[in-house]
Amino acid sequence: MQITELDPTDPAARRAWHEALVTAVRADRPHALTTTLEAFEVVATAPSQHFARSWLQAVVDGEVVGTAELELPLSENTEVAWTEVAVLPGHRRRGIGRALWDAVVVRARDAGRSRIGGEVTLDLDVAGPGQDFAGAVGAVEMHREDHLVAHLPVAAALVDPAYEVVRWRGRCPDEHRTAYLAMRNQMNADVPTGDLDVEAAVLDDTRLVDSEERLMRSYDVRVAAARRRTDGLFGGYSLMFVPHGADYGWQDDTLVMPEHRGRRLGAALKAANYADLPEHVTLVHTWTDPDNAAMHRTNTGLGFRVVERMLEMEVALDADLDVDPDVGARA
Ligand SMILES: CC(C)(COP(=O)(O)OP(=O)(O)OC[C@H]1O[C@@H](n2cnc3c(N)ncnc32)[C@H](O)[C@@H]1OP(=O)(O)O)[C@@H](O)C(=O)NCCC(=O)NCCS
Repeated sequence: MQITELDPTDPAARRAWHEALVTAVRADRPHALTTTLEAFEVVATAPSQHFARSWLQAVVDGEVVGTAELELPLSENTEVAWTEVAVLPGHRRRGIGRALWDAVVVRARDAGRSRIGGEVTLDLDVAGPGQDFAGAVGAVEMHREDHLVAHLPVAAALVDPAYEVVRWRGRCPDEHRTAYLAMRNQMNADVPTGDLDVEAAVLDDTRLVDSEERLMRSYDVRVAAARRRTDGLFGGYSLMFVPHGADYGWQDDTLVMPEHRGRRLGAALKAANYADLPEHVTLVHTWTDPDNAAMHRTNTGLGFRVVERMLEMEVALDADLDVDPDVGARA
């Protein structure tokens, strides 16, 4: 078994890496939302200025049997590295996951990072090894979210008549950008993160343009926002993504600004987005902090049900963390 770095300029290698990841993750998680090949291709071939990413693979007899992504934030959270490790079911419990992890640790340390974070998601009905593995490498739980899905159509949720719904797809129209940026930044500051010590990204117009352009290459990006009729002020928005050609989408941010809360705008905005989807999109994923009672009620009211628990785990890279220093060719 060899640990090597993926050559992101090689299309066949990118496909093999992505296929191994999806097969490994889906083995214990029938409800997993995995990145599409198209979205992976964008991330792998067009580097972001805000994250340095690399991809490790465990190779046995020319076959990719395990994967690890390493993400190094460059604009904020520069003391952290993020990773996801996955091994094909037929190759587990032979030290491959640990070898990938060790290679991640060496690279994170080389990049001056003091912590590694990652998500472990557990199906409610299928026992998965993710939590045991994370515990074995010294990770502790910092935050927890429920992963929910809803089959479309969902229950109707009417918009408070004092508001009108403004929708767009892809790039936010110029006339709404200032209000949209203010709401996006409020969301980044408000989103619950439990014990995680993470710095919220601050979006300015340049960063929003960059993010919109990258996302639109892989996703149909949809926004529904609520504008108060009396003064034209925006009270909230809901953002969702549908991978090109997919029959599912996922719910990203939903925010109602503090002075507009209590009018069920969150549910109305989500429902407005779902009602506008093409007919072939029949499933929506979302994630919610189980302690966020308002959003949990909104989601279950719309017909979402919990299918998985997502644990955000973290390892401190103390000097005495035991890893094999010789792992992984830097290809
Ligand atoms: C988690 C995963 C990467 C482990 O890969 P692996 O190659 O089997 O891991 P290793 O053989 O190197 O195991 C390392 C240690 O993890 C722990 N571990 C791994 N699987 C375990 C299981 N099923 N039960 C209990 N402990 C387990 C053990 O302590 C193990 O040491 P041991 O084999 O000497 O007992 C793999 O099961 C997987 O891909 N799962 C789906 C994706 C996922 O959950 N990834 C983790 C989130 S980043």
